Amino acid sequence: MPQPPFSTVEQAVAALRRGALVGMPTETVYGLAADARNELAVRRIFAAKGRPSNHPVIVHFVDSDTAWRWAKNVPEHARRLAAAFWPGPLTLVLERALEVRDVITGGQNTVGLRVPAHPLAHALLAQFGDGVAAPSANRHGRLSPTSAEDVAEELGAAVDEILDGGPCQVGIESTIIDLSGGEPTLLRPGGVPVEAIEAVLQRPVLRTPPPTARAPGLLRSHYAPKAGVVTVLATQLATEAKRLARGGQRIAVLSHETVPALPGMTHFPMPSPVEQFAQRLYPTLRQVDREGFDVALVATPSAEGIGLAVLDRLARASAPRPDDAPKK
Ligand code: TXA
Ligand code: MG
Repeated sequence: MPQPPFSTVEQAVAALRRGALVGMPTETVYGLAADARNELAVRRIFAAKGRPSNHPVIVHFVDSDTAWRWAKNVPEHARRLAAAFWPGPLTLVLERALEVRDVITGGQNTVGLRVPAHPLAHALLAQFGDGVAAPSANRHGRLSPTSAEDVAEELGAAVDEILDGGPCQVGIESTIIDLSGGEPTLLRPGGVPVEAIEAVLQRPVLRTPPPTARAPGLLRSHYAPKAGVVTVLATQLATEAKRLARGGQRIAVLSHETVPALPGMTHFPMPSPVEQFAQRLYPTLRQVDREGFDVALVATPSAEGIGLAVLDRLARASAPRPDDAPKK
């Protein structure tokens, strides 16, 4: 498959201006970027990802002043969170300004706004000067890319330019907070711990129900590698590893703790601090796929801080897949 050459910021800005798609590094994951005011360009994002067209996309900005132009009104809570966490891994959902297109919002009356912290994203957004729509630069339902090479591997010729910003430092997507209604609500845990958001707002943030509590049909595998994902508490790791090993599959064990060697099993050591675990998770799962393992057995970190986002992604990765054949 032909691989696009990695670009300069100037080339990437020119590409956005002509309605092309750019692989954009951010501190969380790489985005698939397009001029957010160019409807045709945004439609190209959906085609490249194979993503349903009613999903809203996040719009990225160089600073909060530019971002606020896209909102109908900016509540005090939004200003406080932006002051505390932008640039950084936080997305704020606000009522959209009238001119924000349906292709961005998925037809809703809200828009997701984010000011990323990566220096190359900052340079790109500063030169571009307006909103850049960017979902994660993966095919729909798959793992988000955390390096320029990952973007090329995911999208091949479907992306026109890729800015190489090195490996992502956070490694997991932004926290999404909905401030468009009454109570601040967590739509997706991510790089900013929800506890830190509550500390700034000085009030609790409502949690949306976990994926298992949602209506069937919404419980769809997402953020998923090709290998099946099984999660386990560290205390149950050895037992679960033995049970899986009896099935004769090739198993990758992702854990800080070492596991006794078993046939067909390979240990992928994970760092213990949860921030580093989060940063290594997607690259490690990609490696597991490249090496053709059947199952990734992952010892889960605790739900504190960014751990909540890690548990959320692992729950989605281990959910039933749309293409799962019934097991006999
Ligand atoms: O870290 C990130 O957020 C990365 C980088 C590239 O910025 N982007 C990202 O985008 O993860 P995406 O499209 O893969 O996930 C964005 C999520 C989707 O689940 C989408 O439904 C939600 O944000 N979202 C976007 N706009 C929304 C809105 N107006 N209301 C509710 N949810 C929204
Ligand atoms: Mg995504």
